[in-house]
Amino acid sequence: MSFQEEVKALKKRGDIVLVAHNYQIGPIQDAADYVGDSFGLAKKVTELDVENVVFCGVDFMAESALILNPEKTVIHPEPKARCPMAAMVDIGELRAFKRRNPDTAVVSYVNTNVETKAESHVCCTSSNAVKVVKSLEEHKVLFLPDRNLGDYIKRFVKDKEITLWEGYCGTHDNISVKSITELKDRYPDAEVLVHPECIPDVVDMADFVGSTAGMLKRAVESHAKRLIIGTEVDMGHRMRKEAPQKEFYFPGDPFCQNMKKITTHKVLRSLKELQPVVKIDRDLMERARKPLERMMDIGRGI
Ligand code: 13P
Ligand code: SF4
Repeated sequence: MSFQEEVKALKKRGDIVLVAHNYQIGPIQDAADYVGDSFGLAKKVTELDVENVVFCGVDFMAESALILNPEKTVIHPEPKARCPMAAMVDIGELRAFKRRNPDTAVVSYVNTNVETKAESHVCCTSSNAVKVVKSLEEHKVLFLPDRNLGDYIKRFVKDKEITLWEGYCGTHDNISVKSITELKDRYPDAEVLVHPECIPDVVDMADFVGSTAGMLKRAVESHAKRLIIGTEVDMGHRMRKEAPQKEFYFPGDPFCQNMKKITTHKVLRSLKELQPVVKIDRDLMERARKPLERMMDIGRGI
């Protein structure tokens, strides 16, 4: 039996849905019921009437799915698949900052672990970060953990004092001006799409900046035949599937090794055993849900 057939057969046995982030390897994306960006998937899970969710992505994504769906069982095929940027927040340091700066609102990117979310006023994603920060009453803001996304927000929010945490995503931080320039020299008509986790000089070169879901939408809708994509290389699987007539080029083939710790073998094991289950302390989960809900209220304009 092929991997796809095995997944289908295992899903038939129970009340199970398989979801995968856009950076998962092609076969896992193809086997998934839903593929999307980090927050979009967590939100999607809230709409599903299902008991078991096998979440193929990194730790904070599976955690967010559970935080928003505490009545469901969220299974993460490889708990060691962790986002190093989310781990760049030292909780003791954050608490000390809050004690020193009681008038500062803490805004955390969804790429944070549950302890950080529990200490935050509001969360944001790469697609709504500017809107969330603009909506705050507080003049002083601490944005964490991504200094590059923070820099991107600062371009649009001039009337607030924004302090940036010194975190970054190695995969995106390494995408260089040189690698994009080389592709642009070869394909001058190509449109450049980048994730806001890229460095400011790379963002300056972009025709479009957005989350993985935003980039996919733009890739499909764009009139350009060739596109240079500044994000993880397996995003290309989805783009080539949805826009087969276009050509996609990834400068330096950015790779997130943490995402790839989820393998087809581990997905099958999780579907069979419904393990490993994501567990979060109830009180911590309640506290972490508030900033996520606040973000969704801002999205709805409440
Ligand atoms: P998205 O929320 O845009 O999918 O990004 C998640 C991520 O980990 C980017 O590196
Ligand atoms: Fe984390 Fe970067 Fe990997 Fe995204 S690409 S999961 S931010 S390490």
